[in-house]
Amino acid sequence: MDFVGNHIISVDQFDRQDIARVFAVADELRVYAARERITRVLEGAILSNMFFEPSTRTRLSFGAAFNLLGGEVRETTEIKASSLAKGESLYDTARVLSGYSDVIVMRHPTAGSVAEFAAASRVPVINGGDGPNEHPSQALLDLYTIRAELTGQGKKIDGLSIALIGDLKYGRAVHSLCKLLALYDNLQFNLVSPPGLEIPQKLAAQLQAQGHRVQTYHQMEAGIRDVDILYVTRTQEERFPSQEEADRYKGLFRLNQLVYTQHCAPNTVIMHPLPRDSRADAQELDDDLNENPNLAVFRQTDNGLLVRMALFALVLDVADQVHAHSKPVTWFTANRSPAS
Ligand code: NCD
Repeated sequence: MDFVGNHIISVDQFDRQDIARVFAVADELRVYAARERITRVLEGAILSNMFFEPSTRTRLSFGAAFNLLGGEVRETTEIKASSLAKGESLYDTARVLSGYSDVIVMRHPTAGSVAEFAAASRVPVINGGDGPNEHPSQALLDLYTIRAELTGQGKKIDGLSIALIGDLKYGRAVHSLCKLLALYDNLQFNLVSPPGLEIPQKLAAQLQAQGHRVQTYHQMEAGIRDVDILYVTRTQEERFPSQEEADRYKGLFRLNQLVYTQHCAPNTVIMHPLPRDSRADAQELDDDLNENPNLAVFRQTDNGLLVRMALFALVLDVADQVHAHSKPVTWFTANRSPAS
């Protein structure tokens, strides 16, 4: 794909070569996330970060990624704080914001809304999550993390086995990740969800049609045996028709150290897009796993910065100029040692 000036709306846009390009640029940019050097390659550029749904990681890391490349960030964080609350269309908002920005990241509760917005935008738009549909940057950072974790164990993405656990119906991170993984060869997908929260049938069929082994489980213990990766998700409460219905699924699947020790192969990598639901009646990923070295969730969030920097660098066509605009960091930074 041609990244320059283009929107990033769906993982369907990517092939394996494109993914390799994003990851190579992300690797290159590690020195900036690790605060070893700073770069001003996007000095003067403006990102409009439009988040019309709750977000911590995605919004902050897109913003920080843009800042780390030297650009400035403008934000709107709620529909009720923007003119959409006055009945403005996505079309008008896109036309207006195009004049204020060099690139836009948008999250919105409706599937397809970011594509509709992008169609009216003059500047590149990156999908930060459109309802239950897609979350391409999350899938890229997840895959980047999977690659790193497997490499550490002498394995590859081809031939990988992964258990996807929890709300597979509404989880957009799962939907995008499955489609990206399907580009590789000979995978085993264990789809582990309560009855009623299975992955959309079309997606399961697509994985099978692409030659992968797909097995559905309604019981967690059986689904998490003998896999390389566990990808746990929270119940996407906000997508259910009612809170009552969402509550029916709360706390059904809980991964904790005991379950892990009893049922998982040694060194099974534990992932989660976060946020994990830490309320007592949910806890799909228990805090007692925090010291487990196979818990990769905070390596995922660190990698999110690299992958999002890479997307900006590619879309705005500065990937080859980043180092030419760089200099050493002068201040004390606690980020240097762990990330480098
Ligand atoms: C995910 C999302 O928003 O889809 N969060 C994130 O961006 N890291 C997953 C979730 O909210 O459960």
